[in-house]
Amino acid sequence: MVPKVNLKFGCARGQTSVSDPFTMRCSPIHPLTSRDPNTMRRAKISIIGAGNVGASCAMWAAAKELGDIVLVDIPDKVGVAQGKAIDLACCGPTERFDASIIGTSDYADVAKSDVIIVTAGIPRKPGMSRDDLIATNVKIVRSVSEQIAANAPDAVVILVSNPLDAMVYTAWKTTGFPTNRIVGQAGCLDVARFRTFIAGKIGCSVEDVSALLLGGHGDDMVPLASYTSVHGIPVSQLLSADEITACVERAKMGGGEVVKLMGTSAYYAPASGSILMAEAIIKDKKRILPCAAYCDSEYGVGGYFVGVPAVLGSSGVEKVIEIDLNAEEKALMDESVSHVKDLVGTVRETFPDLA
Ligand SMILES: NC(=O)c1ccc[n+]([C@@H]2O[C@H](COP(=O)([O-])OP(=O)(O)OC[C@H]3O[C@@H](n4cnc5c(N)ncnc54)[C@H](O)[C@@H]3O)[C@@H](O)[C@H]2O)c1
Repeated sequence: MVPKVNLKFGCARGQTSVSDPFTMRCSPIHPLTSRDPNTMRRAKISIIGAGNVGASCAMWAAAKELGDIVLVDIPDKVGVAQGKAIDLACCGPTERFDASIIGTSDYADVAKSDVIIVTAGIPRKPGMSRDDLIATNVKIVRSVSEQIAANAPDAVVILVSNPLDAMVYTAWKTTGFPTNRIVGQAGCLDVARFRTFIAGKIGCSVEDVSALLLGGHGDDMVPLASYTSVHGIPVSQLLSADEITACVERAKMGGGEVVKLMGTSAYYAPASGSILMAEAIIKDKKRILPCAAYCDSEYGVGGYFVGVPAVLGSSGVEKVIEIDLNAEEKALMDESVSHVKDLVGTVRETFPDLA
């Protein structure tokens, strides 16, 4: 007989109970099953910003047949959003997905979204750091967040715009949403880069590399070689310390490497990481993924969104997983958290309404 374990996860949005983490059955009043039957009970994913990352998110979401998709951009770019929506919808017959995909600049269209992915904002150009984007992107993310709060008050919001940690804070403050429904994507991308470079060095499938990172995006990430394995084999048995360090460094600078080559920031892999998170939420998969989640007592952070492994399910962030860190890893994590605090400090000083 299978022993009955009572694991407590957070409650689904506005609901009194969540799906059983073992049976993965949804409650009968789960938001995905209580919507208008005309939507054919598909989930609804809205993507704000129909640029490189936003359009790539739409493509991965459609390819995985995650649900209906709304691509939102500013009125001046509504034609781009609409054109990309039509172009993508016409992949359905070939790629074998059914989904309604629309482009719009009207936020009323995001109503009843299950997940909203925010990619609105300017990307880096060569020579820029992510932090250089803060003044412009806080204003954009603040106005987008106001619209989300007004039109889709039950959505889980995944932030992608940079600098990520400041944008997550801005969205949280502006929407007033509970912390479990605000989450940032950076770790899924950074870990995918790390896994790719490790697999390349070993000459094995990327699927067999499992890794974990903590902390901020890119330069600020905290690599955890002790939690990296290849089909269960500790990576230290397959690569030298120098080889692992080279993979860590390349993953850290992975964003900059692409910006230098293309003149703008990466989009396929960031979008793929964002859709991995959206999928975990929409399908209530309880995936443990590295994401920017709210931590209070966790890791001694004291009330900031930082990169940590978290359980993602229909309520958004359902649990932050705390793991043991050695002294070196702890020092790197503290440094990374301190950078997040500085960034949030800048937002608070520059935009007192967000303090
Ligand atoms: N977190 C990550 O892992 C990660 C990775 C790559 C890029 N990014 C960030 O994602 C953001 C988008 O990058 P991109 O390459 O797609 O840029 P992009 O310029 O191609 O697209 C951004 C889009 O946002 C739109 N936009 C601007 N203001 C808006 C508003 N108020 N409402 C709706 N849409 C609005 C723009 O019109 C544009 O179409 C950047 O901030 C970039 O730094 C994050």
